[in-house]
Amino acid sequence: MIQRSLTQLFAVLLGFMLFVPASQAQTAQTKQAHVVILATGGTIAGTGATSTTTVGYTAAKVGVEGLIKAVPELSKVARVTGEQVFQIASESMTNEHWLTLAKRVNTLLAQADVDGIVITHGTDTLEETAYFLNLVVKSRKPVVLVGAMRPSTAISADGPINLYNAVLLAASPEAVGKGVLVCLNDQINGARDVTKTNTATMDTFKSTDLGLLGYIQGSKAYFYRASTRKHTVDTEFDVSNLSALPAVDIVYGYANVTPVALNAFVAAGDKGIIHAGTGDGSLAAQMVPALKAARAKGAIIVRASRTGTGILARNGEANDDELDFVVADTLNAQKARILLMLALTKTSNTKDIQRMFWTY
Ligand code: DGL
Repeated sequence: MIQRSLTQLFAVLLGFMLFVPASQAQTAQTKQAHVVILATGGTIAGTGATSTTTVGYTAAKVGVEGLIKAVPELSKVARVTGEQVFQIASESMTNEHWLTLAKRVNTLLAQADVDGIVITHGTDTLEETAYFLNLVVKSRKPVVLVGAMRPSTAISADGPINLYNAVLLAASPEAVGKGVLVCLNDQINGARDVTKTNTATMDTFKSTDLGLLGYIQGSKAYFYRASTRKHTVDTEFDVSNLSALPAVDIVYGYANVTPVALNAFVAAGDKGIIHAGTGDGSLAAQMVPALKAARAKGAIIVRASRTGTGILARNGEANDDELDFVVADTLNAQKARILLMLALTKTSNTKDIQRMFWTY
């Protein structure tokens, strides 16, 4: 009798011991954040002819499942699923791609079972897609853009570790509410201020004067700063019902510049022009009549700078009040274009648009 009771007791204890780890593992699995990887192409998905090919490779070749399969460690930091949204080199990104991507992101983040999103992307226009999403994503959940400077076939390719870090960041509670983030080279940058600063090196993404937000180290995200400008759920922009964005183009300032390009954009019906001027957004004398004519036709003119850093002072190098122009604050020309496009979906009032450039 005692023997039988001991056997039964042992069986119960053994079952409990087996059940607890399984339930813990199951709990751990259910506790793991669900991160969706949206793949769009770029070098991170690129392939080269040899392992030493780091230029002259082909971008946008490896599919999202291939990217995930190449980094089995992803399963240690999140439950990952993947979607191939596009497969392009990012210099070919368009407004239509952005609208499709933003709508997919917002649909996924509205789902309770999605905790964060990673977007794999070419580095050429990565900063632009990041800033666009920073202004139109309607969730506090993490959205992290990631790319690579070496193709997947290269020695010491940076894509796999960048993808691992990006998924880890998207699964991190610390990343909630920080706005859209860019994560390469073990660094965390904010969408508003980051820019690609080098044609080829792996430290290319920098927030120049305004600085990075934090680091990824030892499989953990460390934040030291946060953006002071409004983003995501705090913006006034909504693209859910848009199928196109207003036409806005950029003209570049330089010695001997002529208004030929400007006049062509205006003739094509542009609603806005970003003037990436020399220095503090200076306007060459030969450009002013054409800029005034463009404004008179209703185009919004934003003065930006080709320098890449610093505040674009209102009424500094030009009388913006008199010209009825807008200044870009610290946004570079390509990001000023994005904000002006979205601003034009709401208003054509220059005072209101100037407020937006001082808000986002
Ligand atoms: N064609 C460039 C792009 O897709 C390659 C650069 C990269 O992804 O690093 O942005």
